[in-house]
Amino acid sequence: MIIGVLKETGNENRVAVLPAEVVALKKMGIDVLVETKAGEKAFASDKAYVKAGARLAERKDVISEAEMLLSVNIPVEDDFGSFKEGLVLCSVLNPVENRDWLEKACIKGLTVLALDLVPRTTRAQSMDILSSMATVSGYKAVIEAASLLPRFFPMFMSAAGTIKPSRVLILGAGVAGLQALAIARKLGAIVEVFDVRYAVKEEVKSLGGKFIEVAGAKEDVMAGGYAVEQSEEFKKKQQQLIQERAIASDVVIATAQIPGRKAPVLLLKETVYSMKPGSVIIDLAASTGGNCEFTENGKRVVINGVHIIGKSDYPSDMPSDASKMFGCNIINLLKIIVDKDAKLILNLQDEIINGTTAVHGKEYISQRLKQLLNLK
Ligand code: NAI
Repeated sequence: MIIGVLKETGNENRVAVLPAEVVALKKMGIDVLVETKAGEKAFASDKAYVKAGARLAERKDVISEAEMLLSVNIPVEDDFGSFKEGLVLCSVLNPVENRDWLEKACIKGLTVLALDLVPRTTRAQSMDILSSMATVSGYKAVIEAASLLPRFFPMFMSAAGTIKPSRVLILGAGVAGLQALAIARKLGAIVEVFDVRYAVKEEVKSLGGKFIEVAGAKEDVMAGGYAVEQSEEFKKKQQQLIQERAIASDVVIATAQIPGRKAPVLLLKETVYSMKPGSVIIDLAASTGGNCEFTENGKRVVINGVHIIGKSDYPSDMPSDASKMFGCNIINLLKIIVDKDAKLILNLQDEIINGTTAVHGKEYISQRLKQLLNLK
């Protein structure tokens, strides 16, 4: 099989596969064709790809020769004209935002493997790109907050007096939130955490955080471990408690999301006005509307001395390790869909492959995708 690695477009700095992962692909008997300068922004040169055993080619040749194309984000619409029926595309899909793109891919008879649809199960953990990228985001969010904050994170007892530790509030204890908790604790801050899933309480405690519980949260076993929309009464209670804890905090890292829906608004304008000037809010849910009413995606807003950073693309700011993790996750996925003769075998009876396959043979496959898009 020939796999093509595309150069990303726009502001994306990551690349789907670094040279080290090309070596792994070659060991699987796969021929790798890399678009010229694909790894440039992730500090991987064309020379390094060639040394790893890849061939370099222009985009149009990569598309026409490859049986499968790897990219971080879905290829641009301009590429559609060059795609042949049966071509396999493997990237992050963001199905809700890219619904029309997916429909076109389905009509054209492409196979789309959506890396953001990989089931969140123990067996699929090594292929879970959402977790890898959330790890990067949680880390970077704390580092950026610490560098902007006009205070220390840790407590200091010095000849110049005692400095109290900073207080960090984390909204949402998914992968990004737990990573942010771990890093903020390592830097010496006191950390409090909110989540609607009580299952994370023990994890929060084991990482040294304090779990703030709001009674009456709705959980749904059918939601695959994800959060679900909450009642108006719960939201009111939660907002009051969050306001109280946010006013006492120096940093808020907001990560709360509900797949396929707008992010819940947890930090109201009045809460921000009551926070200490110099405080920092990093909103990782910015691309889905944000957890703070002032959040603007991709922008820094300063309100009353409080910095609000709407940022959903930290992985692109750390392209070396983010691409490394991305590529490793892809290799682990390929291990279950490529046989020993390097042929693609898409066994749709396998729950990971079925869950990850968005469209194949002009049909929508993944149940989770159908749920997200409200398809029958
Ligand atoms: P996410 O990015 O979808 O959401 C982040 C967090 O926000 C979640 O913990 C969610 O419960 C929380 N949240 C949503 N609405 C909220 C609200 N109104 N107030 C407070 N918090 C709110 O989450 P992520 O990181 O993608 O994880 C999703 C699920 O997948 C989790 O249950 C996680 O434990 C699970 N998971 C399982 C894995 C495995 O078994 N291999 C691997 C990774 C994740």
